[in-house]
Amino acid sequence: MNKPATPSVQDSPGQEIPLESVWMIVNGQVVQEQVEPRLLLSDFLRHQLGLTGTHVGCEHGVCGACTIMVDGDSVRSCLMLTVRAHGMQISTVESMGRIDALHPLQEALREHHGLQCGFCTPGILATCVDALQKYPLRTEAEIRAVLSGNLCRCTGYQGIVEALQACVALRDCSTGVKP
Ligand code: FES
Ligand code: FES
Repeated sequence: MNKPATPSVQDSPGQEIPLESVWMIVNGQVVQEQVEPRLLLSDFLRHQLGLTGTHVGCEHGVCGACTIMVDGDSVRSCLMLTVRAHGMQISTVESMGRIDALHPLQEALREHHGLQCGFCTPGILATCVDALQKYPLRTEAEIRAVLSGNLCRCTGYQGIVEALQACVALRDCSTGVKP
Protein backbone atom coordinates (compact mmCIF):
# COMPACT_ATOMS: atom_id res chain seq x y z
CA MET A 1 0.00 0.00 0.00
CA ASN A 2 1.28 3.47 -0.87
CA LYS A 3 2.19 5.75 2.03
CA PRO A 4 0.01 8.91 2.01
CA ALA A 5 1.97 11.93 0.75
CA THR A 6 3.03 14.46 3.37
CA PRO A 7 0.96 17.63 2.88
CA SER A 8 3.09 20.41 1.45
CA VAL A 9 3.01 23.79 -0.24
CA GLN A 10 5.04 24.91 -3.20
CA ASP A 11 7.50 27.67 -2.28
CA SER A 12 9.28 28.29 -5.56
CA PRO A 13 9.05 26.14 -8.69
CA GLY A 14 10.09 22.62 -7.83
CA GLN A 15 10.54 23.32 -4.11
CA GLU A 16 7.95 21.74 -1.86
CA ILE A 17 7.74 22.75 1.80
CA PRO A 18 6.18 20.02 3.96
CA LEU A 19 3.39 21.24 6.24
CA GLU A 20 3.65 20.73 9.99
CA SER A 21 0.85 19.29 12.07
CA VAL A 22 0.13 21.39 15.17
CA TRP A 23 -2.45 21.36 17.92
CA MET A 24 -3.18 23.95 20.58
CA ILE A 25 -6.03 25.14 22.76
CA VAL A 26 -7.45 28.37 21.38
CA ASN A 27 -10.04 30.15 23.51
CA GLY A 28 -10.85 26.88 25.26
CA GLN A 29 -11.21 24.77 22.09
CA VAL A 30 -8.71 22.20 20.89
CA VAL A 31 -7.52 23.12 17.42
CA GLN A 32 -5.54 20.80 15.14
CA GLU A 33 -4.24 22.12 11.83
CA GLN A 34 -1.60 21.70 9.14
CA VAL A 35 0.56 24.81 8.80
CA GLU A 36 3.55 26.09 6.90
CA PRO A 37 6.58 26.03 9.21
CA ARG A 38 7.12 29.78 8.60
CA LEU A 39 3.52 30.82 9.34
CA LEU A 40 3.28 33.55 11.98
CA LEU A 41 0.90 32.94 14.85
CA SER A 42 -0.89 36.23 14.10
CA ASP A 43 -1.57 35.09 10.51
CA PHE A 44 -2.62 31.63 11.68
CA LEU A 45 -5.18 33.09 14.07
CA ARG A 46 -6.55 35.59 11.56
CA HIS A 47 -6.43 33.71 8.27
CA GLN A 48 -6.58 30.04 9.20
CA LEU A 49 -8.88 30.24 12.24
CA GLY A 50 -10.78 33.41 11.28
CA LEU A 51 -10.05 35.09 14.64
CA THR A 52 -9.69 38.58 13.19
CA GLY A 53 -9.95 40.28 16.59
CA THR A 54 -6.16 39.93 16.76
CA HIS A 55 -4.94 42.94 14.80
CA VAL A 56 -1.74 43.31 12.85
CA GLY A 57 -0.04 46.68 12.58
CA CYS A 58 3.72 46.72 12.17
CA GLU A 59 4.38 42.95 11.93
CA HIS A 60 7.75 43.37 13.59
CA GLY A 61 7.09 43.58 17.29
CA VAL A 62 6.80 47.34 17.76
CA CYS A 63 3.13 48.39 17.88
CA GLY A 64 1.70 45.71 20.21
CA ALA A 65 -1.58 45.45 18.24
CA CYS A 66 -1.16 41.68 17.81
CA THR A 67 -0.65 40.95 21.52
CA ILE A 68 -2.46 37.85 22.78
CA MET A 69 -2.12 35.53 25.79
CA VAL A 70 0.00 32.39 25.40
CA ASP A 71 0.13 30.08 28.41
CA GLY A 72 -0.90 33.01 30.62
CA ASP A 73 1.67 35.53 29.35
CA SER A 74 1.12 38.38 26.92
CA VAL A 75 2.95 37.68 23.68
CA ARG A 76 3.29 39.49 20.35
CA SER A 77 1.81 36.99 17.96
CA CYS A 78 3.60 38.57 14.97
CA LEU A 79 6.90 37.51 16.53
CA MET A 80 5.95 33.89 17.19
CA LEU A 81 5.78 31.07 14.69
CA THR A 82 2.66 28.95 14.83
CA VAL A 83 4.73 25.79 15.25
CA ARG A 84 6.18 27.28 18.47
CA ALA A 85 2.65 27.40 19.91
CA HIS A 86 2.22 23.63 19.53
CA GLY A 87 0.56 22.26 22.68
CA MET A 88 0.03 25.69 24.23
CA GLN A 89 -3.02 27.60 25.49
CA ILE A 90 -3.91 30.66 23.46
CA SER A 91 -6.41 33.35 24.43
CA THR A 92 -7.45 36.08 22.04
CA VAL A 93 -9.82 39.00 22.45
CA GLU A 94 -12.65 36.76 21.20
CA SER A 95 -12.53 34.97 24.59
CA MET A 96 -12.82 38.20 26.61
CA GLY A 97 -16.34 39.13 27.55
CA ARG A 98 -19.42 39.31 25.34
CA ILE A 99 -21.31 42.21 23.89
CA ASP A 100 -23.90 41.86 26.68
CA ALA A 101 -21.37 41.00 29.41
CA LEU A 102 -18.12 42.86 28.89
CA HIS A 103 -14.89 41.93 30.63
CA PRO A 104 -14.28 44.44 33.51
CA LEU A 105 -11.37 45.92 31.56
CA GLN A 106 -13.51 46.37 28.44
CA GLU A 107 -16.16 47.98 30.61
CA ALA A 108 -13.56 50.31 32.16
CA LEU A 109 -12.20 51.30 28.73
CA ARG A 110 -15.72 52.12 27.61
CA GLU A 111 -16.42 54.07 30.80
CA HIS A 112 -13.18 56.10 30.69
CA HIS A 113 -13.15 56.71 26.92
CA GLY A 114 -10.07 54.54 26.54
CA LEU A 115 -10.73 53.67 22.90
CA GLN A 116 -11.74 55.34 19.69
CA CYS A 117 -11.05 53.39 16.49
CA GLY A 118 -10.32 50.29 18.59
CA PHE A 119 -7.45 49.04 16.43
CA CYS A 120 -5.02 48.91 19.36
CA THR A 121 -7.61 47.69 21.87
CA PRO A 122 -7.26 43.87 21.58
CA GLY A 123 -3.53 44.16 22.17
CA ILE A 124 -4.00 46.62 25.03
CA LEU A 125 -6.49 44.25 26.66
CA ALA A 126 -4.02 41.34 26.57
CA THR A 127 -1.17 43.52 27.88
CA CYS A 128 -3.30 44.88 30.72
CA VAL A 129 -4.80 41.52 31.73
CA ASP A 130 -1.27 40.14 32.01
CA ALA A 131 -0.05 43.18 33.97
CA LEU A 132 -3.01 43.08 36.36
CA GLN A 133 -2.05 39.49 37.23
CA LYS A 134 1.64 40.21 37.71
CA TYR A 135 2.29 43.75 38.89
CA PRO A 136 1.06 46.00 41.71
CA LEU A 137 0.41 48.92 39.27
CA ARG A 138 0.09 51.35 42.18
CA THR A 139 1.52 54.38 40.42
CA GLU A 140 0.60 56.11 37.19
CA ALA A 141 4.25 55.82 36.11
CA GLU A 142 4.07 52.03 36.48
CA ILE A 143 0.85 51.90 34.48
CA ARG A 144 2.31 54.07 31.73
CA ALA A 145 5.40 51.85 31.62
CA VAL A 146 3.16 48.80 31.07
CA LEU A 147 1.33 50.60 28.26
CA SER A 148 4.51 51.84 26.62
CA GLY A 149 4.74 48.78 24.38
CA ASN A 150 1.28 49.32 22.84
CA LEU A 151 0.86 52.15 20.37
CA CYS A 152 -2.46 53.98 20.31
CA ARG A 153 -2.83 56.72 17.73
CA CYS A 154 -6.23 57.97 18.88
CA THR A 155 -6.74 58.34 22.58
CA GLY A 156 -3.67 60.11 23.95
CA TYR A 157 -3.57 57.29 26.54
CA GLN A 158 -5.19 59.21 29.41
CA GLY A 159 -8.44 57.25 29.19
CA ILE A 160 -6.56 53.94 28.98
CA VAL A 161 -4.53 54.86 32.07
CA GLU A 162 -7.71 55.74 33.96
CA ALA A 163 -9.38 52.49 32.87
CA LEU A 164 -6.43 50.48 34.12
CA GLN A 165 -6.40 52.42 37.39
CA ALA A 166 -10.09 51.56 37.84
CA CYS A 167 -9.32 47.86 37.26
CA VAL A 168 -6.42 47.96 39.72
CA ALA A 169 -8.80 49.35 42.35
CA LEU A 170 -11.32 46.60 41.52
CA ARG A 171 -8.61 43.91 41.71
CA ASP A 172 -7.24 45.18 45.01
CA CYS A 173 -10.72 45.46 46.43
CA SER A 174 -11.55 41.87 45.50
CA THR A 175 -8.21 40.53 46.77
CA GLY A 176 -8.31 42.62 49.95
CA VAL A 177 -5.04 44.42 49.11
CA LYS A 178 -4.73 47.83 50.80
CA PRO A 179 -3.92 50.62 48.32
S1 FES B 1 1.80 43.71 14.64
FE1 FES B 1 2.85 42.66 16.18
S2 FES B 1 3.81 44.18 17.34
FE2 FES B 1 2.92 45.26 15.66
S1 FES C 1 -8.11 53.58 19.75
FE1 FES C 1 -7.39 53.95 17.72
S2 FES C 1 -5.34 53.26 17.82
FE2 FES C 1 -6.00 53.13 19.85
